[in-house]
Amino acid sequence: MKYHIVTYGCQMNLHESEKIAGILKTAGYSQSAPLEEADIIVFNTCCIRENAENHAFGNIGALKKLKREKKGLIIAVGGCMVQEEGKAKLLKEKFPFIDILFGTHDLWHLRELIEDKRKGNKTVISVLDERKETEDHADPVRTSYPNAWVNIMYGCNNFCSYCIVPYVRGRERSRSATAILREVEALVRDGYREITLLGQNVNSYRDGEVDFARLLDAVASVEGNFRVRFMTSHPKDFSPALVAVMKKHKKICKHLHLPVQAGNNRILGLMNRRYTREKYLEELALLRGEIPDCEVTTDLIVAFPTETEEEFEDTLSLVEAADFSSAFTFIYSPRAGTKAAQMEGRIPEDVAKDRITRLIALVNRKTREKSARYVGKTVEILCEDFDAKKGLYLGRDEYGRMGYFKSETDMVGEFVNLKITEANGISLYGEMV
Ligand code: 5AD
Ligand code: SF4
Repeated sequence: MKYHIVTYGCQMNLHESEKIAGILKTAGYSQSAPLEEADIIVFNTCCIRENAENHAFGNIGALKKLKREKKGLIIAVGGCMVQEEGKAKLLKEKFPFIDILFGTHDLWHLRELIEDKRKGNKTVISVLDERKETEDHADPVRTSYPNAWVNIMYGCNNFCSYCIVPYVRGRERSRSATAILREVEALVRDGYREITLLGQNVNSYRDGEVDFARLLDAVASVEGNFRVRFMTSHPKDFSPALVAVMKKHKKICKHLHLPVQAGNNRILGLMNRRYTREKYLEELALLRGEIPDCEVTTDLIVAFPTETEEEFEDTLSLVEAADFSSAFTFIYSPRAGTKAAQMEGRIPEDVAKDRITRLIALVNRKTREKSARYVGKTVEILCEDFDAKKGLYLGRDEYGRMGYFKSETDMVGEFVNLKITEANGISLYGEMV
């Protein structure tokens, strides 16, 4: 029997889909297959912005015909969207052909839910309020070699006023440092060359005496030829101890993803981010004082309720001042149940679109300028894949920049020194040296 998983959203969800695949294996589904050939189709949804939800709604709706034609096909919908207040009910009403609905805390019951369904039960719905346990009960089916994702904590306590994550993922729970280290050691033994530590807010990690800086120190001290990334960090928890650990280990990539969201202090206050523009820039100065070539990327939201043109321009000037190497940019999307969704002063769509267009143009210009500086330099790339269209291998340097190159032999999983000959947007092109 075969499975097909459709994933929406971030790295956390991609890794969760690897876990879902692991559970499906224990339930007798032996391999992944294209949608039309699958015996079970699982949607792993995201609800962080409205367009992610609309996307999932569209794709689920499109399965109505296949479900009618293919006897025995099971359709399961899980993830953040199902955990949202009232959404499981809505999904069931809108798409009565869904067989299983499971929330973010029910992942580990998926096998039982499938068994329930096979016994002939109608739509099986399981949406728990909370899952305290942090250890997994099946090995994930990893799909991102040479990178391996490792969850270090789940949930979020920050309640940024725009964000639905704390509602659908629950309060922060850290995994035990021992379990994390055991997992990392096994992955490195298995030949993984990049370990990415994952959490909604990794800096809040704590297991007794072990905070995030100490955990990172321990992970980077594991023997072997690999590098370490982590995401996402919150500026309010940024610490000199973290910078010291990043500086200490060559294995830790000189890249920090530090979402700032906005460049204006009034908006940051309304967002409940608990830092100011000045504090954020001080943190970057401290980081770059210790690790001068560390690259910083960020997340930015435009058109938060009541944001004025001048306040938006503060975000533009922050992008200049912070010298980001790239950024994810979003238009504010109201999420039911969050504080911001109740705020007055919604920004009209045309204004929001104009702001994001200007922001993206600036971010892209900064990215291109930074990339251009790489031409003539040699960078170390971890080869991740082969791009059949381009006929080139590709991988990322420690700063997160994509590099393309030619090779006669399979280089996936190898560290390669590339002399950069051309820069195009965020991508670099080079020759092996
Ligand atoms: N609207 C727009 N962007 C959002 N993000 C989170 N919630 C929202 C929202 N309601 C963005 C933030 C966060 C990233 C993962 O998604 O920038 O850092
Ligand atoms: Fe959402 Fe803020 Fe938590 Fe990030 S830190 S998941 S933006 S509430």
